[in-house]
Amino acid sequence: MSDPNDPIVVWHEQAVTRADREKLNKHRGCVVWFTGLSGCGKSTVANLVDSQLHERGLRTYVLDGDNVRHGLNATPQMLAERYGEEFGKRFGLGFSQQDREENIRRVGAVANLLCDAGLIVLTAFVSPYESDRDAVRASMAEGDFIEVYVNASLEVCESRDPKGLYKKARAGEISNFTGIDAPYEAPKKAELVLDASGQQPTELSELVIAKLTELGKLS
Ligand code: ADX
Repeated sequence: MSDPNDPIVVWHEQAVTRADREKLNKHRGCVVWFTGLSGCGKSTVANLVDSQLHERGLRTYVLDGDNVRHGLNATPQMLAERYGEEFGKRFGLGFSQQDREENIRRVGAVANLLCDAGLIVLTAFVSPYESDRDAVRASMAEGDFIEVYVNASLEVCESRDPKGLYKKARAGEISNFTGIDAPYEAPKKAELVLDASGQQPTELSELVIAKLTELGKLS
């Protein structure tokens, strides 16, 4: 009998391959990984790209930090309400460095599966640690991971403060807030850097689509 602490799991090849699915979709799967400070516009740009590609008949999906943290990566408190304190502590995710690492690891795994399903996956996570983003890149085939740095200064993000979280972080009501008392490691090898302090979201989404076209992802 296998040890429950060291279970044996064996990969099962699936009958319908990624190539079969991509043939049906008439385009390749890939992961467009948006990273940047809270309030920089990641979700806005990802959703604009999503709408435009969807309009063109491409198969796309957005994985958004705020939404994924309501389900797959729910907080300890959310899980505790239904499954109890201990379960919440064990599986719930907050914003410590290790919790963010696990957040990005799980999201990377889901993005990989959706990419295997032939979708153009658009992810919008702060993903502040380079090593976490690089681990997702390394888990994918060459060229499948396209990193987009949505670069807006802390001043700009803080002045927008769409959810009032910067204000709370400055007041000490939230700890480990990226840019305030937690770090953001800007990408060094992003496929695309967007000037989100200077340009409008619609201009930025056009730049993303141009990059995907240049990389041959849209046909
Ligand atoms: S990540 O760092 O683990 O990648 P993720 O993108 O999932 O973060 O979630 C970030 C969102 O959670 C932000 O847009 C913000 O609304 C909210 N949030 C709450 N607390 C924090 C925090 N301490 N740091 C950053 N974002 C936070």
